[in-house]
Amino acid sequence: MLRLIPLSSPAARATLGVALYACALVGALSLTGHAGQLRAVTEGVYSSEQAQRGQQLYQAQCVTCHGGTLEGVIGPPLAGDSFLSAWSARPLVDLVDKIEKTMPLQQAGSLSRQQSTDLAAYILQSGKFPAGQAELNAAVLGQIAFPAARSSPSPAAGAPSLAPAGNLAQLMRGVTFPNANILFNVQVKDPGTQKPSAPVPFDYVLWGSTVYYGWQAVDQAALALIESTPLFLLPGRRCENGRPAPVDRADFKQYTAALIEVGRAAYRASQSRNAEAVVKVTEQLNDACANCHKVYRDGTQEGSSAGAARCR
Ligand code: HEC
Ligand code: HEC
Repeated sequence: MLRLIPLSSPAARATLGVALYACALVGALSLTGHAGQLRAVTEGVYSSEQAQRGQQLYQAQCVTCHGGTLEGVIGPPLAGDSFLSAWSARPLVDLVDKIEKTMPLQQAGSLSRQQSTDLAAYILQSGKFPAGQAELNAAVLGQIAFPAARSSPSPAAGAPSLAPAGNLAQLMRGVTFPNANILFNVQVKDPGTQKPSAPVPFDYVLWGSTVYYGWQAVDQAALALIESTPLFLLPGRRCENGRPAPVDRADFKQYTAALIEVGRAAYRASQSRNAEAVVKVTEQLNDACANCHKVYRDGTQEGSSAGAARCR
């Protein structure tokens, strides 16, 4: 496939560094967790027979992308450290939902709840979690959680240090605004019914939207907001009028954290492949932008234009 930026370029490497660092910041800002878990996946929560049914489905529908030992090929690994850290402390119901609503990638929605649960049982067996007597069933999925991973990874040694390249308005226009708009667009276009059609005459931006379209684009927009919003708080950032961005103010940090939380809600809604659920979150998204803009962007002081009053 055509890549606009080869992965070996300095720009691409710098972007990877930024993504890693942003992950660590998100971890620090994360406000929510799953409370009140009753059982762990280590307690024999599925039966061997069920895992065997899951294995058959896996061999038929998943193996080409996730690999013979679940090591990951086109798709991510479904066993091992990186899988367990991605699912750290999350309830099994999230895994079953993920499978049922979004997999197999090209035929999302084709698996039943039972099949998706059997697949989860096979994933547990492959991860060396012991089998028990009873089958895993829909009623208990929300009460069983993956173990909490020990610690979140810190930025890789030698990663480029992170310094602002643009002012806050440029960050908003370049990153926040387009991604938020992809989410707002669900209000007027159901991602589930979108078909890609190549633009004539050729246009890279429009062409790009035929490569990653529909629900995948909505997933990515939500993830982009989660990962990029901590950059609002990068020390040394200035606003367009030259004033330092108010990165140390408690309320500015709260507005930033609130937008990250809405991003997470948008991702969860997108993963449910339910357009109405996403539309609902876009109301919160609108508020998360507006609450901060009211205070720090759209200044109302007498005698000063909005631009001059910004970031006070
Ligand atoms: C055509 C390739 C393809 C097929 C077939 C496929 N997947 Fe995936 N899978 C992916 C990709 C790519 C991702 C990462 C994107 C995402 O999370 O939506 C993924 C993500 C996942 C995840 C989330 C992993 C994580 O840690 O976030 C699970 C679980 C999963 N797949 C299970 C399955 C199961 C079970 C099947 C078979 C029913 C299956 N997949 C079939 C490509 C595939
Ligand atoms: C934590 C506070 C905060 C949040 C949250 C926030 N913004 Fe902003 N935004 C600002 C500030 C402050 C400016 C002005 C920056 C400057 O002048 O350099 C701005 C500027 C902008 C601009 C540029 C306006 C212009 O042309 O001058 C856009 C576009 C924008 N924001 C979009 C968004 C969207 C969309 C969201 C929500 C998804 C959002 N912002 C969330 C604080 C925030």
